[in-house]
Amino acid sequence: MTTARSFGNYDLAAALADLIDNSIQANARNVWVEFDPADDDVIVRICDDGRGMTLEVLIDAMRPASRSPEEKRDALDLGRFGWGLKSASLSQARVLTVVSWNDAGINAARWDIDNIDNWSMDIFQEEDALDFLESKPLASSGTEVIWAHCDRLYDKSINATIDERLNEKISHARKQLSLIFHRYLSGESDRPLSIYIQSISLSPVDPFMTAHPATQSLDGELIQIRGGEHIQVKPYVIPHFSKLTVSERLALGGEEGLVRNQGFYVYRNKRLIIYGTWFRLVPHSELSQLTRVRIDLPNSLDAEWKITLDKSDAQLPPTLRKRLRAVVQKFSKRSVGVHRRKGVDLNTIDKSPVWRRNAHNNRIRYLINRDHPIIREILTEAGDPFVVNEAIRLLEAYVPIDVIQNDLETSPDKVVQAITDPSEFDSLIVGSHLHLDEEHGRSTGF
Ligand SMILES: Nc1ncnc2c1ncn2[C@@H]1O[C@H](COP(=O)(O)OP(=O)(O)OP(=O)(O)O)[C@@H](O)[C@H]1O
Ligand SMILES: [Mg+2]
Repeated sequence: MTTARSFGNYDLAAALADLIDNSIQANARNVWVEFDPADDDVIVRICDDGRGMTLEVLIDAMRPASRSPEEKRDALDLGRFGWGLKSASLSQARVLTVVSWNDAGINAARWDIDNIDNWSMDIFQEEDALDFLESKPLASSGTEVIWAHCDRLYDKSINATIDERLNEKISHARKQLSLIFHRYLSGESDRPLSIYIQSISLSPVDPFMTAHPATQSLDGELIQIRGGEHIQVKPYVIPHFSKLTVSERLALGGEEGLVRNQGFYVYRNKRLIIYGTWFRLVPHSELSQLTRVRIDLPNSLDAEWKITLDKSDAQLPPTLRKRLRAVVQKFSKRSVGVHRRKGVDLNTIDKSPVWRRNAHNNRIRYLINRDHPIIREILTEAGDPFVVNEAIRLLEAYVPIDVIQNDLETSPDKVVQAITDPSEFDSLIVGSHLHLDEEHGRSTGF
């Protein structure tokens, strides 16, 4: 059992995800996760309103390797190894207690790493089992997994309070779970789910931003595999960074996250297993940084994809490499298009910049370019050029440089000064009866 602590490569999010898989499997509609700091420990409670277990099923569930990975599973089953409940829990805690109830009553079973005597498991029934719960169960059936002696939950050597260390972990897990289960959280799956962490519900994070008007969804493909199985492949080109709001950018992990998270997103029964990899089919080049490809796998292909025990890794089967490479090549040009188009517009701006950096006499100043087509239009057409010029000089003199500098140092991601949509810029120019020569970026008049 101690060895089981090292199975897989669980972090807190992966461990919780493995338990949430079980809750979904048990038809739960809600999962509540609570972290209660207690003395030098943290008690973690993962509670669901699923169908619960009878004593017999509970005892079986607590057994290591409770089912063989070779056993055929129901098509919607999120399990595979018969280990998740135990290995995920013990990866974080030394004591695992599972309390489960339904019409047949309430029972609890416990493994304590420091007290396993001749493979005997502690069993508690009725009142004794109920005592493990903080309050009476809300639902008529359900299961609560309780982790105690959580020696792996946070690093005790770090000089911070238990709350600080825990908060960082919880916030990371929250983000991960919002992504891993986004198709359940959004109701896309037939088994919709709400997850609450410290009483706050998780909102789905859709890595393809399918609801965003600027997302391009490309034609999907159905790849037939032996035995009538198939996998679904669907590419998306997500909007350019400049078209996203601050919160959308943050949800996608900032600019860095956008580049890092390009690639395949592999789902097993709509639950995200692995993302941000091209399986070395194409380089992580900048050109495809807006491209994300959804792959939907049935659980019957677990062996071929080498799904790991912690459900956070998979390998592309060699037989599929060629097929998927062709898919990637076909759409990657589109992603290039999004960038190039963007590039041309920005170059146009570059060639006729709104701001000029003026370095003179050991002084740097930022001045508005009087030759910019729109500015020139204002100067020549909008009343007294002298007054307009004075207005521009006033703006230049009061550029809030110190505030900008401070913002750039503290939260560079949040500074969104650039024009968000190049077409907006184009329409401005058209609106002012000017036309920018695409090739040379110069104003060519009416
Ligand atoms: N929250 C729960 N509600 C009801 N039954 C559960 C719950 N958690 C676990 N079980 C039962 O315990 C069994 C063992 O769970 P465990 O996670 O260890 O293995 P698994 O889900 O079968 O496979 P995997 O190792 O791939 O997760 C499950 O098959 C299920 O019958
Ligand atoms: Mg499981």
